[in-house]
Order: sequence, then C-alpha cells, then structure tokens
Amino acid sequence: MALLEIEKLRKYFKNIKAVDGISFSVEQGDILGLLGPNGAGKSTTISMIATLVSPDDGTIRFKGEDIVKNPKAIQQSLGLVPQEIALYPNLTGLENLQFWGRAYGLNGKELKKRIEGVSEVIGITERLKDRVKKYSGGMQRRLNIGAALLHNPEFIIMDEPTVGIDPQSRNHILDTVKALASQNITIIYTSHYMEEVETLCDRVCIMDGGKIIAAGTKDEITSSLGGGCELCLRLSKTDAALCEKLAALPEVKKLSADGDALLITAGDADTAARAVLDAVSKSSASLLSFDTKKPSLETVFLNLTGRALRD
Ligand SMILES: Nc1ncnc2c1ncn2[C@@H]1O[C@H](COP(=O)(O)OP(=O)(O)OP(=O)(O)O)[C@@H](O)[C@H]1O
Ligand SMILES: [Mg+2]
Repeated sequence: MALLEIEKLRKYFKNIKAVDGISFSVEQGDILGLLGPNGAGKSTTISMIATLVSPDDGTIRFKGEDIVKNPKAIQQSLGLVPQEIALYPNLTGLENLQFWGRAYGLNGKELKKRIEGVSEVIGITERLKDRVKKYSGGMQRRLNIGAALLHNPEFIIMDEPTVGIDPQSRNHILDTVKALASQNITIIYTSHYMEEVETLCDRVCIMDGGKIIAAGTKDEITSSLGGGCELCLRLSKTDAALCEKLAALPEVKKLSADGDALLITAGDADTAARAVLDAVSKSSASLLSFDTKKPSLETVFLNLTGRALRD
C-alpha cells in the first residue's frame, strides 16, 4: 500500500478548475516531484493533502485512511513548507522556531533539542538570535523549512521551497531534501524548476490546468515521447528549404529553428542523427556543431502543451 493515495481529486473555485480529477500515489520513502507552471493546481492539491482545503470530490488516503474522515493521522505526520513564507519578521529565528514547535505540542527540553537539531540541518545556528526581517530571502526560506521539521515528520510537503533565492541557499535546500529522503522520509516536492525535480525526485507528476498530463519516473515520462532524443545543430546559414526537408523526415517529431540553430525532437537517436546529417550534407549549408541528448522534462512539457514550463 502506498503511503498516500489520491483518487479523482477535484477542487473548483467558481469557474476555475484548480484541480480537475487527478489521481496519483506516493510510496513510503520516495520523493515525488510535482511540476507545473503558474496556476497548474499544485498548491491547491497540496492544501487538500494538508487538510487545509476540503476537496469537492475524490479521495485522499493516508496509510489507507480517508483524510477527510480522519484528518488526525496526516496532520500529526506531516510537515508542510508553505509557498508563502510563514514567519514573524519581528521575532528572532529562535522565537519563530519556538512558536512553531509549541504549535506542534513540543516544549521544554524536547523543544530545545529539536530546535538545535533543526537549526543545524538548515544551517542557521549562527543567526538564531537575529530578527527574521534581517535574514536574506534564502535564509528565510531555510527557516520556513526548519519550522516544518520540528516535530520530526515522516512525510514532508515542500511547496516551491527554492523560489527567488541565491544559489548557495538553493544548494543547501536541495542537500537538505536529499538528506531527509535518505532517512526514509517521504517527500512531495513542488517546483517550476524542472532541473531540480529531475535531480531530486524518484517519480514526477506534471500538472497543467488542474490535470496531470504526465506521470512516472523521469525515464518513463521521457520515453512516453517515444524513447526519443534531442538533436541540436548549428548551421553556417539559415536554410528554410533544409528546415522543411528535416521537419518532413519520418524520424523527426518536432523541429524548432532559431536562425541557424536547430533543435529537433526525434525518435531513435542513431537513425535520426544519420537521416538529419545526410540531409544537411546534401544542402548548401555546412554543419558548425552537432549534439544529441536525451529529452528533458522541459521538452516533454513543451511537447505535451506547446508551452514552456516557465514563463
Ligand atoms: N482560494 C482561491 N480562490 C479562487 N481561486 C483560486 C484559489 N486558490 C487557487 N485559485 C486558482 O486556482 C488555480 C490553481 O492555483 P494554484 O495556486 O493551485 O496553482 P499553482 O500550481 O500552485 O501555481 P503557482 O506555481 O503560481 O504557485 C489558479 O487559477 C488560481 O488562481
Ligand atoms: Mg503554488
């Protein structure tokens, strides 16, 4: 049995289909990436899992129990890192952690010990006595994560924990997520950044317009494109006739040209590369560079929706 099982979950806000009948599950100890552009329905999904918003329809089961009927189990087991930073700017980092710790029912020596442990994990021990408003954006994000870890949750949901922060804090957060996962903690990780999701997550759900448009391991998702590859070419000149010819090749699924640079999404790398190079050699343009790679989740999204993941 999966730790979390979601079936036909739905939430509409008036005429907005924020979450439109999605189903997925999360296995114990996995990191599930929830990927999607602005307004895809990620935060609404998370709010329902965290029992903050009630679903219009569908079910969410945590350890087999319906969380609407029995919210206690998930509430006690879950650490939620909200998209909007939930800290008191006029209090110190320590006071914020004390506040959240007490909210989770911790106090006395136990609270002190947990705060010490968490501060170390998020790397803010030195700054605990400073007011949060003096923290950098990245430090605030880290403290926001720390607040969700105080009660030693076995299940953590992070809603865009790396938005708008410096690379150092971002790396620190990514390392924290990996360290948590290595302790068999189950994590849902939400992001716009497909590179993060690609490196961190065991499984990925890509959402758009309230629906899941692709799901599985990264390899499963990219091979749903037909086990494809990407070819990147740079030519000595722009050649419209050649582009037309390349786009018409049976191996080529999609071609986008940006002047003399061509990006081709294709099937089998070897067959496609031979056919493309053959066509180029017969054209009046010469080849300046050529590269093949596996398609990224970004490409998958582009293929499925015709749009980029980030605007
Ligand atoms: N409380 C609400 N009232 C009305 N509409 C809402 C509410 N919450 C979300 N929405 C709408 O539902 C849709 C999904 O929003 P949601 O916040 O879940 O998306 P998201 O994937 O988290 O986006 P982002 O990447 O911008 O955080 C959007 O169109 C949003 O405007
Ligand atoms: Mg959101």
